[in-house]
Amino acid sequence: MNLKSIFSFLIVAINFDAIFGRLSCNYVVLPSGYTCNLTINNPFGLNIFVNINGTHVSGYTDSDVLRVVRAAGSNTPNIPSIICSKFMNVEHIELQSITIFNVDDYSFAGCTALTFLTLAGNFVSTIHENAFQRNVNLHTLYLLRNQLTTLPENVFQHQQKLNTLWLDSNGFDDFPLQIFWPLTGLVNLDIGFNQFRTITPDWFKYLQNLRSLNIQYNLISDFPKNAFNELKSLNSFLSSGNSLTTIRADSFGFLPNLVFADVTFNAINAIDENFINNTDISRIDMRGNFCANKDIFDPSISRDIMRADLRECFNNFQTTMSGLSKGI
Ligand SMILES: *[C@@H]1O[C@H](CO)[C@@H](O)[C@H](O)[C@H]1NC(C)=O
Ligand SMILES: *[C@@H]1O[C@H](CO)[C@@H](O)[C@H](O)[C@H]1NC(C)=O
Ligand SMILES: *[C@@H]1O[C@H](CO)[C@@H](O)[C@H](O)[C@H]1NC(C)=O
Repeated sequence: MNLKSIFSFLIVAINFDAIFGRLSCNYVVLPSGYTCNLTINNPFGLNIFVNINGTHVSGYTDSDVLRVVRAAGSNTPNIPSIICSKFMNVEHIELQSITIFNVDDYSFAGCTALTFLTLAGNFVSTIHENAFQRNVNLHTLYLLRNQLTTLPENVFQHQQKLNTLWLDSNGFDDFPLQIFWPLTGLVNLDIGFNQFRTITPDWFKYLQNLRSLNIQYNLISDFPKNAFNELKSLNSFLSSGNSLTTIRADSFGFLPNLVFADVTFNAINAIDENFINNTDISRIDMRGNFCANKDIFDPSISRDIMRADLRECFNNFQTTMSGLSKGI
């Protein structure tokens, strides 16, 4: 055996793909856009890839790829930067449930046209501060079902176009004060199924366009004063499964667009009637509470039926207040 055949024997015997990993695309033309159906096998989290394997549909090239969708069975602890450097016009990336741990500053740097990104169902516990710096067109970001406990304060600083942000089902118990300040276009925010014990009013101060806020299934027993009063577009407020006992009107202020509140499965025993008076709530779902226990819908101007159904809650609130003012 000469040296050359020994060498090629070694190359065959060592499975380089298994060690160094491999990315490949099945390219498909779909109504939603030209798509790379991406298989990633990168067990050691390397970021040394110079190409993504696969053959284009004839007439198409890398710059035509609008969507990258991970194939089931993929796995990688990181996001190889080759994805965004190769497909520079990609608008839609789905990398859910492929064991990602870490989102670094280079993960999405090449994807300036990106509008939709999901990293749901991974093990992400760290997102670097500049991870989304170049993704100024991002419209939807799904980070749900990961292991995040915190985020860098400036991580969303270039996301003025972000419409929908799902951070639910992580391990958050706090946010940096300015975390959502740049998100002036945000319409839907979900921070449910986390470990929050309270809400900091500063988080929501600049979310003038937010229509839906979901904070369900946290550990919140009370909302501070002015918690939500800057959310002037708020339409739907979801706070099921916390441990609220009282709904105070001064946590909300005047919210003329608020029409729906889901506060099921708390321990509510008192509501300030001004919460109804200062909002346009026509449906409040009170199932699983103490002072009222049903889904109340009353679209009338007076909302007399709703008031009657909540009378015990209002009375309890008054009693508590007069008790407090008498120093009892
Ligand atoms: C994506 O690629 C995987 C692996 O090659 C394949 O099993 C799957 O059927 C493909 N899906 C689509 C939608 O093309
Ligand atoms: C894909 O990569 C492997 C090596 O990882 C190579 O053997 C194969 O020829 C490549 N296929 C294409 C279509 O480029
Ligand atoms: C709320 O509005 C109703 C109807 O206008 C009124 O009867 C009630 O006194 C108001 N409640 C409070 C606490 O101001």
